[in-house]
Amino acid sequence: MALAWITGASSGIGRAVSLELARRGWKVVASSRDESNLNSLATEASVFSGQIVPCPLDITVDETVRETVEKIEGKDGPIDLAVLNAGTYNRFDVSEFSSKYFRDHIDLNLMGTVHCLDPLLQFMRRRFRGHIAVVSSLTAYRGLPYASAYGATKAALTNMCEGLKPELDFYGINITVIHPGFVKTPLTDRNQFFMPFLIDAEDAACRIVNGLERKKFEIAFPRRFAFLLKIASFLPYSLYFKLVRKLVKV
Ligand SMILES: NC(=O)c1ccc[n+]([C@@H]2O[C@H](COP(=O)([O-])OP(=O)(O)OC[C@H]3O[C@@H](n4cnc5c(N)ncnc54)[C@H](OP(=O)(O)O)[C@@H]3O)[C@@H](O)[C@H]2O)c1
Repeated sequence: MALAWITGASSGIGRAVSLELARRGWKVVASSRDESNLNSLATEASVFSGQIVPCPLDITVDETVRETVEKIEGKDGPIDLAVLNAGTYNRFDVSEFSSKYFRDHIDLNLMGTVHCLDPLLQFMRRRFRGHIAVVSSLTAYRGLPYASAYGATKAALTNMCEGLKPELDFYGINITVIHPGFVKTPLTDRNQFFMPFLIDAEDAACRIVNGLERKKFEIAFPRRFAFLLKIASFLPYSLYFKLVRKLVKV
C-alpha cells in the first residue's frame, strides 16, 4: 500500500484529502496538533480500502518534525507522497499591523513547511523518488488587501516550489504546488466577507488528489477563479490597484 503523510490533517482541506486518499487505497499518516480529531479521522476512514494512522505533531518545532519524519520512515516505510498543508490565515488591516502577525504566519505557513521539507528531501534524495505537495493559495499570485502576512507566506511557498522543481527533477522527485481559491473549512467559516466561487472541502480534495495522481506541478482551483486571478497577475499595477482598491473598506 502506498504511503502518504499529510500535515494539517485534522480539519478542513487536510482532513478531506486524507479521507479521499484512504478511499483510493492509500495508507495515510495524518498529522496535526489535536490528537482527538486525528483519532476520529482514523475511525471515519476505517470503512475504506486504505487506512489513516494518527500522528500528532506541531510543525513549528523543527527537531520534533525531523524525529517524526524519521519515525514514519522507519515504522511505516518510505513516504511516497507528502502533502504539506497545515497553515493559517489571520485577517488584519493596516491599523493593526504588527510584526507578531507576520511572525505567526511565517512560523507556521512558511517555516513549518520548510521544517517538513528538510528531512523529507534527505530521505527522498537518497532513494531518487518521492512526491511532495505544498499547499499555497491563489493569494500567492498577487498581493491582496487584508492578507499582507498570509499572502507573503503563500507567495514565498509558491516561489520556493518553482525554484525547487528544476533541481528536484534531477533526483526523480515530483513537486506540486497547490493553489486553492475559497474552500469552506473552519478557517474560512471565520470570514465575514463574501467569498466568490466558494467550494466545499470534499470537492477541493477530489481536485487535489486527481491532480496529484497526474503528478501536475500546479493544481489551481476553482478553474474560473484561478483563471481570473492569473489574468489579474499580468495587469499593470495602475489597473490592478484600481480594481483591488474596491475591496478596501474604511
Ligand atoms: N480554506 C481556504 O479557502 C483556503 C484557501 C487557500 C489556501 N488554503 C490553505 O489550505 C491549508 C488548509 O487550510 P484549511 O482551510 O483546511 O484550514 P483549517 O481547517 O483551519 O485546517 C488547518 C489545519 O492545520 C493544522 N495546524 C495548525 N497549526 C498547526 C501546527 N502548528 N502544527 C501542525 N498542524 C497545525 C490544524 O490542526 P491543529 O489545530 O489540530 O494543529 C488543522 O488540521 C492552509 O495552508 C491554508 O492556508 C485554504
